[in-house]
Amino acid sequence: MSNNRSESPVAIVTGAGRGLGREHALALAKAGYNLVINDLGGAGDGTGADNTPAQQVVAEIEALGQQAVANGADVSNWAAAGEMIQCAIDTFGRLDGLVNNAGILRDRTIANITEEDWDLSIAVNLKGTAAPLHHAAAYWRDLSKQTGEPVNASVVNTTSASGLYSMVGQSNYAAAKMGVASMSVVAARELARYGVRVNVLAPAAVTRLTEGVMKTEDLKQRLQPGFVSPLVVYLLSDAAAEVSGRVFEMGGGSLVAVDMPRPGAGLRHADGEWTAERIAAVMPQLLAEVPDAPNSAEAMKFMLTAPLDE
Ligand SMILES: NC(=O)c1ccc[n+]([C@@H]2O[C@H](COP(=O)([O-])OP(=O)(O)OC[C@H]3O[C@@H](n4cnc5c(N)ncnc54)[C@H](O)[C@@H]3O)[C@@H](O)[C@H]2O)c1
Repeated sequence: MSNNRSESPVAIVTGAGRGLGREHALALAKAGYNLVINDLGGAGDGTGADNTPAQQVVAEIEALGQQAVANGADVSNWAAAGEMIQCAIDTFGRLDGLVNNAGILRDRTIANITEEDWDLSIAVNLKGTAAPLHHAAAYWRDLSKQTGEPVNASVVNTTSASGLYSMVGQSNYAAAKMGVASMSVVAARELARYGVRVNVLAPAAVTRLTEGVMKTEDLKQRLQPGFVSPLVVYLLSDAAAEVSGRVFEMGGGSLVAVDMPRPGAGLRHADGEWTAERIAAVMPQLLAEVPDAPNSAEAMKFMLTAPLDE
């Protein structure tokens, strides 16, 4: 899927050394992008660092005939995230797309969670999306003001069914990922005037983060990370020029547009003064009109039974 640009467009993919990020980067390279391949290279729980995975993906992209540069920034480091954005501009002279994909898991129930589990998950999954988004947004805002034109740029941020559907055992991750979704809609509204689109992806794929729960060969075949990447290519392309502030799930052959929270049912008190007793009296009626928060099993069933695209 191409863009109407006179030279190769440029994108940054964070966490692109393996898993979904690597597939997004390879798909974008095949679509003609030059890329900054960011990856800290640590373990799935966010510990450690290794620049080998990012360098390997750079070599794969060069073999496809596109240009790529490795970047080892920890995306949760505000200054390092800024240097990563600058790396794209210094190396390629432009920035058209940002795919915030880096993420980690530190699964614990809320009773068992440690401060470190909480802080690291929020840092990488939420701040690690906000920091690159901030620096890219500031660059695009300034460019748009200089030229007096919208910049035509696109961001894809990564959320998770865990956040959207409140999975047990993942309070830290769910908080971060739901934060990513809401922050992205805010950013889409703020940045529209500069010609920047911001959308959200909840992927489903067997990677090192999920292979512990998705163990069978059948699941590995059906939930290949590369099946998700066409949505990223589409969202960065001009074909998605009218699509912003949207949340999608993609994986296992299903593409779902997610409805973000909206008011469900309401009652007004004529003079504004509710009492606790009156609230108790109307609560059954109010809740009868609004279903419980969706859970992941319902969401998975929805994905698996979506009508076929024929
Ligand atoms: N696999 C799934 O089914 C699934 C489901 C929902 C959401 N996600 C999300 O998709 C994204 C990709 O996950 P994946 O399954 O490919 O996992 P993965 O572990 O294979 O890849 C994540 C990559 O992010 C990198 N990374 C981690 N912390 C970083 C940091 N601070 N700075 C820079 N890079 C960092 C890691 O080194 C790794 O290469 C994550 O945000 C994850 O939360 C995945």
